[in-house]
Amino acid sequence: TELVGRDKGWQGKKVLISAGPTQEAIDPVRYISNYSSGKMGISLAEACYMLGADVSLVLGPTALKPKFSGIKCIPVLSAYEMEQACHQEFLDADLTIMAAAVADYRPWQIAPEKIKKKEEEWVIHLEKTNDILASLGKQKKSNQYVVGFALETENEEAHALEKLQNKHLDAIVLNSLKVPGAGFGTSTNQVQVYSAKGERHLLSLKSKSQIAEELVDLLQKWI
Ligand code: CTP
Ligand code: CA
Repeated sequence: TELVGRDKGWQGKKVLISAGPTQEAIDPVRYISNYSSGKMGISLAEACYMLGADVSLVLGPTALKPKFSGIKCIPVLSAYEMEQACHQEFLDADLTIMAAAVADYRPWQIAPEKIKKKEEEWVIHLEKTNDILASLGKQKKSNQYVVGFALETENEEAHALEKLQNKHLDAIVLNSLKVPGAGFGTSTNQVQVYSAKGERHLLSLKSKSQIAEELVDLLQKWI
């Protein structure tokens, strides 16, 4: 069974992981979303589960799912639903990893009926979503460890370090979009990890499940 081979290193530890994209409804038949597959976050959930942790996975809409039924999976659609679920699970979480690609903006109103095509152009009015990670970072207690992800296309390191500080995180994982084979929809990734204490570590290009295992190993040392 899936219990066989499970480590005891993180037994009794509660881990919250968010993964996947969010969908922001425009009308009953349309939404705004992004290319996230959820693979990195799901792999992290599996790696933490294998260390014996109690894992809650808040998962946006994706075809993928974790391979262990012992992982508590909470499916959500919108950024708002993800926010509610994350705040709930955060209460007793020792470690939180926000790997989800949360929409930064959503339509400011959801049309109750399908919007019909009329004009040649259509402008959709968007409003900002709440930054879930920033709000968790702000309210975290000293015994809670919070990890964010950063997706950048320029000034990667400076922007990641800014997010680490501004969101009051303990560590941040910088995705390398520019490395061939890394990023959205791929099965491999390369990341750079920074901690608030000034530690840093490069995980060079390998499968997302391998990255997840090594990242969790690293966090075990840093926490
Ligand atoms: N995040 C979040 N809630 C949001 C937006 C982002 O919790 N509304 C989290 C993501 O899960 C990720 C981290 O914030 O862990 C950084 O996401 P990223 O998109 O790289 O940065 P943003 O702060 O959204 O800034 P920008 O997109 O402008 O770079
Ligand atoms: Ca963003």
